[in-house]
Amino acid sequence: MALKCRFWVSGFFVDPKECERCVTEAIETGYRLIDTAQAYYNEEGVGNAVKKSRINREEFFLVTKVWITNSGEEKAYRSIDESLKKLQTDYVDLLLIHQPFGDYYGTYRAMEKAYKEGKARAIGVSNFFPDRYVDLCNFVEVKPMVNQMETHVFQQEKLSRKYMDKYNTQLMSWSPMARGENNFFDNETLKAIGEKHNKTVAQVGLRFLTQENIIAIPKSTHKKRMEENFNIFDFKLSSDDMETIRKMDKASSIFVNHYNPEFVEHIINY
Ligand SMILES: NC(=O)c1ccc[n+]([C@@H]2O[C@H](COP(=O)([O-])OP(=O)(O)OC[C@H]3O[C@@H](n4cnc5c(N)ncnc54)[C@H](OP(=O)(O)O)[C@@H]3O)[C@@H](O)[C@H]2O)c1
Repeated sequence: MALKCRFWVSGFFVDPKECERCVTEAIETGYRLIDTAQAYYNEEGVGNAVKKSRINREEFFLVTKVWITNSGEEKAYRSIDESLKKLQTDYVDLLLIHQPFGDYYGTYRAMEKAYKEGKARAIGVSNFFPDRYVDLCNFVEVKPMVNQMETHVFQQEKLSRKYMDKYNTQLMSWSPMARGENNFFDNETLKAIGEKHNKTVAQVGLRFLTQENIIAIPKSTHKKRMEENFNIFDFKLSSDDMETIRKMDKASSIFVNHYNPEFVEHIINY
């Protein structure tokens, strides 16, 4: 499945009321892809903003994710209905397993059922590193259409992308600006490239992902920044710029290590 939606926003770490305000401002800016999750506790905020916008539901691309505590076929299926209720819609455009923990095969079967019933127009996974991703692809009926992973200039997921190309899964990047870590917004290399194009570091980082055929879902609670992050479709990075940024890859996560048992214990108890 090719995802061509260019307009995105997301509601991570934002309570429902604040989320509604942010999503409303993002919609005014022109964003149409909205990323949420059961674990963000703000699906209602997204639903309210979409409804109040009075824009046709078909114009939006709503993404939500099933959390670990709802894993397993029956529980996950019930939780999908609950998410639809909170989002005030009868389908989501993309439904993901948030983390590869718990009975995620059961969760995946529930999502396949939701997909066949039209409750989800596409299904996929998030944070599935190559080992679990390849395993899942080989034992499910409907292949994951998207894998949402931490991806930015410092973590370019080259190995994952090789396998996602093989099994035809679209990469969607979370923390596309590295959440500002590693001094992202003051990075001298990105600044120098941006000056050539009269663009900011944020715009260069997001444009890089877009030209790599990666969907980015930047988050901002500020309208000016939403506009800045949106305005990346009127310039093109040269092949030299792209090559320079490809070399910034450190091939490791800034935030999480899914192979660390302490992290796994932490997240399954979240
Ligand atoms: N699947 C997963 O496990 C997972 C995990 C993490 C995130 N996500 C999704 O990915 C989305 C984005 O990731 P993220 O929020 O971690 O990281 P991000 O989008 O890379 O960075 C967001 C941070 O950058 C700031 N910011 C945004 N635009 C800026 C700009 N133009 N200039 C300066 N600062 C700017 C924001 O501050 P302000 O808000 O103050 O503007 C915020 O602190 C989340 O909202 C969530 O939907 C998914």
